[in-house]
Amino acid sequence: MKVLIVGSGGREHAIAWSVAQSKRVDKIYCAPGNGGISQYAECVDISAMEFDKLADFAQEKGIDLTIIGMDDPLVGGLVDVFEARGLRVFGPRKNAAIIEGSKSFSKDLMKKYGIPTCHYETFHSPEEALIYLENASYPIVLKADGLALGKGVLICNTQREAEKGIGTLMLDKQFGSAGDTVVIEDFMTGREVSVLCYCDGTHIKPMTSAQDHKRAKDGDQGLNTGGMGTFSPSPFYTEEIQKICEEQIYQPTMDAMKAEGRDFVGILFVGLMLTEDGPKVLEYNARFGDPEAQVVLPRMKNDIIDVVEACIDGKLDQVDLQFEDNAAVCVVLASDGYPEKYEKGKKISGLKNFQDKEGYYVFHAGTKCTEEGIVTNGGRVLGITAKGKDLQEARKNAYEATEWVSFDNKYMRSDIGKAIDENAS
Ligand code: GLY
Repeated sequence: MKVLIVGSGGREHAIAWSVAQSKRVDKIYCAPGNGGISQYAECVDISAMEFDKLADFAQEKGIDLTIIGMDDPLVGGLVDVFEARGLRVFGPRKNAAIIEGSKSFSKDLMKKYGIPTCHYETFHSPEEALIYLENASYPIVLKADGLALGKGVLICNTQREAEKGIGTLMLDKQFGSAGDTVVIEDFMTGREVSVLCYCDGTHIKPMTSAQDHKRAKDGDQGLNTGGMGTFSPSPFYTEEIQKICEEQIYQPTMDAMKAEGRDFVGILFVGLMLTEDGPKVLEYNARFGDPEAQVVLPRMKNDIIDVVEACIDGKLDQVDLQFEDNAAVCVVLASDGYPEKYEKGKKISGLKNFQDKEGYYVFHAGTKCTEEGIVTNGGRVLGITAKGKDLQEARKNAYEATEWVSFDNKYMRSDIGKAIDENAS
């Protein structure tokens, strides 16, 4: 079987690794891929937004299955383009990917179908938003309606900060048209958990849980990033909470999308806040998380191709989804200065140390193959994942493995998984 993966980050590397474990797969392509993905896949120089070129390529090569990793092509309708050409593809259609592509759509969906989330209001003009802020409670959360590389969420502690935020999103257009509409919502407190779920349009199966660390600096300080590290499972996401989520959030979301004529097939990423009043939805994404995939997929026992095909064929209920009874931690090695200004092109050494090391993985996020070897090519450079019998052991192993690679400007948070100790105390 020939598989094409669309994307170029650490998440797509984790997907490529997982696909490479399948006995059913003979050949993997990745468009555009990166320096690490090329270990398993032939990287193709087509960007994730060149829909017709991607479909032409899939037809020319006789690709049996395409897996789309990234949000932009999903929200833009790449699945629809592939399906129109009769190509087999995994991911939500454009009319379902809107669950990530429009925050106001997803909030309205939750309100209409009684899915637990916090109070919100939607604004199409800065004037109306500023009037609302006059009598709001703080902190408060501003969200650009559209995709903004995970950076369109502003937590504002005062009215002044929120007014500035409205200026950034709606007037300065820092995230372009993504900020034409803004959702203003109450600030929720509690533990954040990411749960990625396989979906076939009717059935939904949650994977093992994970927790991300979004801020750039230790102690959850600094700017929001794409994610600086993850651990799985979350000790706070108990079986009891999972049951509540299944009854009140996961299946109701699938049913709501179906009722709206937007059957969701693909990965539904449910960002949860475990509040004192029970689990509530922070946000939905329409794809694997990054770097959540880097701790969840290495723990999955199933052949990913079997699960993905069951989703496409509407037979997910026949899959016995299983995860290892262990833990994994991923520490992201970034270029110092990320997410603002940073240098690229630094030679990376030590990658060979991961060869044949059971339970250790180096997932490339921003790297490039050059004549001098593999060099840095982005803000997030590598995701170092290690497994262990429990979270403490996995974290110790992951931090040890971060020392096996070096490059100028290497930066990481030193407190990934701090919450593990808070749970123990
Ligand atoms: N790690 C958060 C995301 O993938 O959106």
